[in-house]
Amino acid sequence: CKIRRYQFDVVMSNTSRLCSTKSIVTVNGKFPGPTIYAREDDTVLVRVVNHVKYNISIHWHGVRQLRTGWADGPAYITQCPIQLGHSYVYNFTVTGQRGTLLWHAHILWLRATVHGAIVILPKLGVPYPFPKPDHESVVVLGEWWKSDTEAVINEALKSGLAPNVSDAHTINGHPGPVPNCSSTGGFTLSVEPSKTYMLRVINAALNEELFFKIAGHKLTVVEVDATYVKPFKIDTILIAPGQSTNVIISAKQNAGKYMVAASPFMDTPVVAVDNMTATATLHYSGTLSTSGTTLTTPPPQNATPVANKFINSLRSLNSKLYPAKVPLKVDHSLLFTVGLGVNSCPTCKAGNGSRVVANINNVTFLMPTTALLQANYFNIKGVFTTDFPGKPPFSFNYTGNPPANLQTTKGTKLYRLPYNATVQVVLQDTGIIAPENHPLHLHGFNFFAVGRGLGNFNPKTDPKKFNLADPVERNTIGVPSGGWVAIRFQADNPGVWFMHCHLEVHTTWGLKMAFLVDNGKGPNESILPPPKDLPKC
Ligand code: C2O
Repeated sequence: CKIRRYQFDVVMSNTSRLCSTKSIVTVNGKFPGPTIYAREDDTVLVRVVNHVKYNISIHWHGVRQLRTGWADGPAYITQCPIQLGHSYVYNFTVTGQRGTLLWHAHILWLRATVHGAIVILPKLGVPYPFPKPDHESVVVLGEWWKSDTEAVINEALKSGLAPNVSDAHTINGHPGPVPNCSSTGGFTLSVEPSKTYMLRVINAALNEELFFKIAGHKLTVVEVDATYVKPFKIDTILIAPGQSTNVIISAKQNAGKYMVAASPFMDTPVVAVDNMTATATLHYSGTLSTSGTTLTTPPPQNATPVANKFINSLRSLNSKLYPAKVPLKVDHSLLFTVGLGVNSCPTCKAGNGSRVVANINNVTFLMPTTALLQANYFNIKGVFTTDFPGKPPFSFNYTGNPPANLQTTKGTKLYRLPYNATVQVVLQDTGIIAPENHPLHLHGFNFFAVGRGLGNFNPKTDPKKFNLADPVERNTIGVPSGGWVAIRFQADNPGVWFMHCHLEVHTTWGLKMAFLVDNGKGPNESILPPPKDLPKC
């Protein structure tokens, strides 16, 4: 195994998109940022140096961080942020994972521009469990705001209303041709006839799930969230923020240019999203740049059947080499309602004295000012409590009329799990304001998505339909609008692990909580001591 060293300088950089230029926070001046490459079992050392006025922290999204929670990155959860002029070395080993993940800033809304890909190759000499593609390429999907993203969210917090949507989506940092602005400038993937290409597609957007498709080419899905799946062919994939999907395309056309499109998905839009579909081009070598592009029509924004077709096709590979180790018995069976609500807010400028909040089990999470992992490790009192409810405090028909009282409880509440406990969480969308799809991300673990349904979860009948044989394994999962998903994992990683909606606007409103996993008794079952350069608050 190798040591892979990276230097991330966090710097401001003038960047032009949509015919205007603004100064954005970047890593090494790049948008998207650099790709991290490692092989399974390698140790990765990333030295992050902060040269900007914003405090920064970087999360290695989906990297399990076994016993190295200090390197996970969410600000005030596992570390205090890196301040201007300071640095921190993220030190972790990638074990038991291979595929594509992403890294991103995990503080405020800085991940809008501070993100990039992580590519974990199989161990040397270990082949992919599918025919080796001739070429590979990273495709990072994102969002672009003409205004400063920090200003966008601050305005929303002050007003109590929802923030503006972005002005465009991007593919590898570019929206593609923009009317009245530029007719060129999108990302181009050059291909040769009869070769195969693996695209490592990541959704690094802040607030939108995206459809991704390519004119004239089917996508063979082979991996999601750095876990292998049973390969299947499909026209359109769906990727939520924080998710990654590897697809293989075969360049079976002889020549030409084909449109690649990334467009938003929201099955029950409250307001029509008017930001733009991002486009890129698949360009066969030898094709004149003046020749026309074969277009593709993105699915409509509310194309739930297209989304479901993709989601329902996902199965763990579950081979001898890569078995799906689904917990069959459950020590902690939890029901978490996830959704939006309103709280009174006399100081809010708009919104009639109320503000939108979000919650899990009616708890709106309050960010602490001391990192939770440190508070736990050093036994600092008064930072958090461990009374996060395992069930919602009241029940109602989650897909029907809202309860009379929409006020949530506020607190920094954690749910405590003994080392190695097996856990089932049913995530139930409440639809209090509007049924909305919430992509929930769990730090520190992969989980198996054993069940999914519409309406209210039925604890008597639904578990009988669970797939315990080959459910897809991932780290981020969409809770369907007005429905539920059931996930299972084993708490084999001591530390404090954040779980939150990966739509940044919902995280900001409080749709988050954390698990506290105790140390085990064995010699390799405790979190490692904190690194010396761990940032101070
Ligand atoms: Cu990708 Cu806690 O986030």
